[in-house]
Amino acid sequence: MKKKKSIKDIISYSEIKKGQLVGGILFVSLGMILSICPILVIYKVIKSLFLYGKLEQSTIQFCTYGLAAVVLSYCLTYIGGILCHKFSYVLIANLKKKILFHIGNLPLGFFTGDNKSKIRQVLGSDMNQIEGYFSHQLPNLISTLALILAMIIVMLKINLILGLTTLLIIFVGLGIQIAIMAKIIKSGGLEKNFAILDQINSATTEYVKGMPEVKIFGTGAKSFKTFSKSVGEYRDFTSSMTSMIRPGFVSFRMFILSVATFIVPVGILLMSRNNNLDFATVFIFYLILAPAISVPALKLRDFAEGMNLLNEVVLRIYEIIDQKELAIENSEEEIKGHDLEFENVSFSYGDEEVLKNISFCAKQGEVTALVGYSGAGKSTIGTLIPRFYDPSEGSIKIGGVNIKNIPMNALMERIAFVFQDSDLITDTVFNNVAMAKTGSTKEDVIKACEKARCHDFIVKLPDGYDTVLGKGTYLSGGEKQRIAVARAILKDAPILVLDEATSFADSENEYLMQEALSELVKDKTVIMIAHRLNTIEHANQILVISDGKIAERGKHEDLILADGIYKRLFDIYKKTNIWQMDIEGSENE
Ligand SMILES: Nc1ncnc2c1ncn2[C@@H]1O[C@H](COP(=O)(O)OP(=O)(O)OP(=O)(O)O)[C@@H](O)[C@H]1O
Ligand SMILES: [Mg+2]
Repeated sequence: MKKKKSIKDIISYSEIKKGQLVGGILFVSLGMILSICPILVIYKVIKSLFLYGKLEQSTIQFCTYGLAAVVLSYCLTYIGGILCHKFSYVLIANLKKKILFHIGNLPLGFFTGDNKSKIRQVLGSDMNQIEGYFSHQLPNLISTLALILAMIIVMLKINLILGLTTLLIIFVGLGIQIAIMAKIIKSGGLEKNFAILDQINSATTEYVKGMPEVKIFGTGAKSFKTFSKSVGEYRDFTSSMTSMIRPGFVSFRMFILSVATFIVPVGILLMSRNNNLDFATVFIFYLILAPAISVPALKLRDFAEGMNLLNEVVLRIYEIIDQKELAIENSEEEIKGHDLEFENVSFSYGDEEVLKNISFCAKQGEVTALVGYSGAGKSTIGTLIPRFYDPSEGSIKIGGVNIKNIPMNALMERIAFVFQDSDLITDTVFNNVAMAKTGSTKEDVIKACEKARCHDFIVKLPDGYDTVLGKGTYLSGGEKQRIAVARAILKDAPILVLDEATSFADSENEYLMQEALSELVKDKTVIMIAHRLNTIEHANQILVISDGKIAERGKHEDLILADGIYKRLFDIYKKTNIWQMDIEGSENE
């Protein structure tokens, strides 16, 4: 079984030396121990006044030492705090760098749906938790334990019986608390708590995300049920947990806060045996010191809670760290041209195979079209080319070299991709297009946008090319798609993958965009995925994908003659078009 990761693994992963942390904690702990000196001074003063009726010279001297100890305690805590903070800032910087580097080497397919928000959480709030743990939680925990230990030693030294009584009460309180926590952990309570919280989170996201559909299809009450069920489950779970935890917590508080109450009867009993002033000073001292120990003892419980949260953070970070990076075996092989070859490629997202034994060669200077029913695997074939995922079997070659042996930058430079559902970044229109090619000038961007038929609507935006998208300015599906095409035009890469690149365009724009693309595709290796079969009729090679396999291949005329799936798809497409024209025609009558 795989060992559960802990915060210690995070330190080794960040490759940081622990010296500063150890030093920091040592300083903070010494500072904390010295903070009990004022209590000792009080003891000496009481003793001096009780026994001698005045402050002795040695007591006055002790008071000055006490004062010096307070100053020293302050300095040590200050230096220790700085060391711990320095350690955690360097750790966070290293950790972020390593995670970002690691993320950079993950297959692009990782950056979808849930994973995107997980990455955001790990690099944001989770890093703050780790920082807080090393800057505050851990030094506080160890120094508090050191303080409690020092107090216990002082107490035992001053009076063994009263010291042992205090210890016993603290142990009973802690024991009850630990027993209840152990029971909860054993019953899987903590895991269930986090699981239900996760469930609520995803139910909330789904509910909010699907709100338009929920309203349109009137399924409000039904879909609200999942959300309300998870909230109800959490209410029931937390109230049952509370009734389980409460007795332990109340007993713990009661024992810890009333140490002095337990000390009193024992003290009175001892007084009856040693009725002298010396013992009276000890007893008074205990009545002062005993409540003082409850504050740090109570803090211990908060640390336990903090640790549970931290474990969740570590698990989340390791979910990302454990993702397998794309293996790149740089070879010296020369990439000869840009023919793209799939050799017996099979692939599955999960258990089920989505692509089965796909083999084809898309030649440079030619258009290879992928057609087929929805869900057949066309987009999946496209995403394997820039290594969104690696095939489970077989290989993909560019210019005779396996893409696994081409450095990632070199591979990306060679491919331009227009996705079926292109997304834009929250930035200016200019930057959204210019990102395709470093050092692009305004003229280059405008030229690409003109070709992609998006220049006209861009200049009408509030700030033209400087309009920030996603902040008050939103584009339609077709407009976004045209910007994505402009990117591809600007990138001018030798391999072009177009996944339904003009599907959102209206008839006029589709015609003009196709014209621009046909100019762009010259001398390039083009993979064109399309449902509108008129756009691929003249492709050099058409591959008909059915159920993850290549069912038919050839040119349009051959495939029509073959009277198979392609012919059926084409007939349906023609019928739909005629039907559309009929409607338009009858509207015009
Ligand atoms: N990220 C993913 N994770 C898991 N399964 C996926 C993922 N993307 C696609 N699939 C599944 O893989 C299969 C092929 O999907 P793909 O998107 O390649 O089809 P397609 O031919 O492009 O369909 P369409 O014409 O509707 O775009 C489908 O069954 C789909 O459910
Ligand atoms: Mg698709």
